[in-house]
Amino acid sequence: MAPVDWRQAWKKGSTPWDAGTSPPALDGLLARGQIPGGRILVPGCGTGYDLATLARSDREVVGLDLSHEARAAFLAAHSDLPGSVSYEVGDFFSYEPAEGFDFVWDYTFFCALDPEQRRGWSETMKRLVKPAGLLATLLFPFEDPISGREGPPWPINTGLVRSLIEDSFEELEVRQMEKTHPGREGRERLALWRRREL
Ligand SMILES: C[S@@+](CC[C@H](N)C(=O)[O-])C[C@H]1O[C@@H](n2cnc3c(N)ncnc32)[C@H](O)[C@@H]1O
Repeated sequence: MAPVDWRQAWKKGSTPWDAGTSPPALDGLLARGQIPGGRILVPGCGTGYDLATLARSDREVVGLDLSHEARAAFLAAHSDLPGSVSYEVGDFFSYEPAEGFDFVWDYTFFCALDPEQRRGWSETMKRLVKPAGLLATLLFPFEDPISGREGPPWPINTGLVRSLIEDSFEELEVRQMEKTHPGREGRERLALWRRREL
C-alpha cells in the first residue's frame, strides 16, 4: 500500500480522522492531575484541539505537524489561549527543538505511521522526552492480538509500543478507556511511560 501523503490529504480537506474535539482520555488525565507543567509536545497534532485543551499558564505547549493547512485551521479557531502555545510545521523525525519535553502526548500519530517508521518513532521519542519526563500514548485502534488489517490507522497495542521503548521508558500504567470519541468505543487504551534517567 502506498504511504499516505499527509500534506496532500490536508490540502484536499480529506481528514476523516478528525473528531472535532480532544478525546475524553485527555480530559481524564488533566482531571487526575497527571499532566505536569513545563514543556509539552503534541506530534501529529492535526487541527490542534489537544493544544487548546492542554494550554495552561505554567505550560509551554508545542504542536507539530507536516501540514500548513492544519496549522492554519488551528490558528483560525484559537487566538487567546493561556500560557505559551505554538504550532510548528515540520517533520517529527527530524525535529530538533532547543530543549526536550516534560510531557509528550501521542493520539492517532503512532497509529498513522507506516510500520517501517515505528523504530524511528521510538528513537525520536527517546530523544525528545526529557529524563524523568512522561510519554502518554492513547492507543487506538487497540487490538490484542493485532490483526493483519492495513492502516492507517494501523492496529496497535501496548505490547507493540512496549517492545519499541522499554529500553528507555518505564511503564507506569495502562487503562482501558470507558469514554471515547463516538465509534471508537472499546478500542482505546491509555498507556503512560516515564523516560528513564540517563
Ligand atoms: C491521523 S492524523 C491525526 C491528527 C490528530 N492527532 C487528531 O487526532 O485529529 C495524523 C497526523 O499526523 C501528521 N503527520 C504524519 N506524519 C508526520 C510527521 N512525520 N511529522 C509530523 N506530523 C506528521 C499528519 O499530517 C496528520 O495530521
